[in-house]
Amino acid sequence: MTGIERVGVVGGGLMGSGIAEVNARAGKDVIVVESSPAAVDNARQRLTSSLERAESRGKIESAAAVLDRIRVVDDLTALADRDIVIEAIVEDEAAKTDLFRRLDEIVTSPDAILASNTSSIPIMKLAVATQRPSHVLGVHFFNPVPVLKLVELVPSLMTDAATTERARAFVQDDLGKNAIDCQDRAGFVVNALLIPFILSAIRMLESGFATAEDIDQGLVLGAAHPQGPLALADLIGLDTTKAVAESLYEEFKEPLYAAPPLLARMVEAGLLGRKTGRGFYTYG
Ligand code: NAI
Repeated sequence: MTGIERVGVVGGGLMGSGIAEVNARAGKDVIVVESSPAAVDNARQRLTSSLERAESRGKIESAAAVLDRIRVVDDLTALADRDIVIEAIVEDEAAKTDLFRRLDEIVTSPDAILASNTSSIPIMKLAVATQRPSHVLGVHFFNPVPVLKLVELVPSLMTDAATTERARAFVQDDLGKNAIDCQDRAGFVVNALLIPFILSAIRMLESGFATAEDIDQGLVLGAAHPQGPLALADLIGLDTTKAVAESLYEEFKEPLYAAPPLLARMVEAGLLGRKTGRGFYTYG
């Protein structure tokens, strides 16, 4: 028993809504905080359609029953009584450190865990924005959260071992995920390997070496990947892919992490992948 029943999620986008969904499906009481009334509506819509899809596929008995356990609001102070808060806002260091400073003031229980779903921002930077660095760690889910089983657990140098073990029990026993342990270095295990792979595929496309379809088909049929690197970038979101690449580059100064100009131009154009209907591919 982890004693974690009241869960807060900040950010109800691609990841935050998925994290809210798996928590509510596990019976937790969930509050999602978004940044504006319009964003609240979008998050609620995203949750409703995902849960209705799960119901129609027989994965859950009742979407309505799960939705009943989720409140979506635009007021951060609603998180005061939470046992854990999982942050899943934009991959922006200033926005995240400001949020952790505010969460530290709002969340009352001294045992509460403040977790981040960041893909690449050092957990230490978030921990030191609070007065409780021993209770801050990275809990990094994968997209789509209801489907993928992995969670990377990322304690900083200041995280208590007890906090990490409680978070491990929460993700494994309560949410049914598998946890792996990572050091607090940009990209952790999976993105440190995946992002340079995606960037290499973008460079290959950019140089005219092969088409997007052929690059992706090469990896699907030739290496048994479930999808090619460019389709995967569209799924992750090209803005998030670029932000993670920039954090990796900032940390290691290795050219293999540098975002190619084509990726930058696509993000500037608002071609962000599936979430905007167009990235390397067009979505209906
Ligand atoms: P997204 O752009 O889909 O969602 C971010 C949401 O945060 C938006 O709905 C936005 O309105 C909201 N938001 C922004 N500032 C806020 C604030 N101050 N308070 C409340 N809400 C706020 O982004 P996505 O993809 O969900 O990424 C979120 C985090 O998860 C990032 O740190 C990203 O690195 C990480 N992540 C992303 C993965 C992916 O495949 N997209 C995979 C694993 C982690």
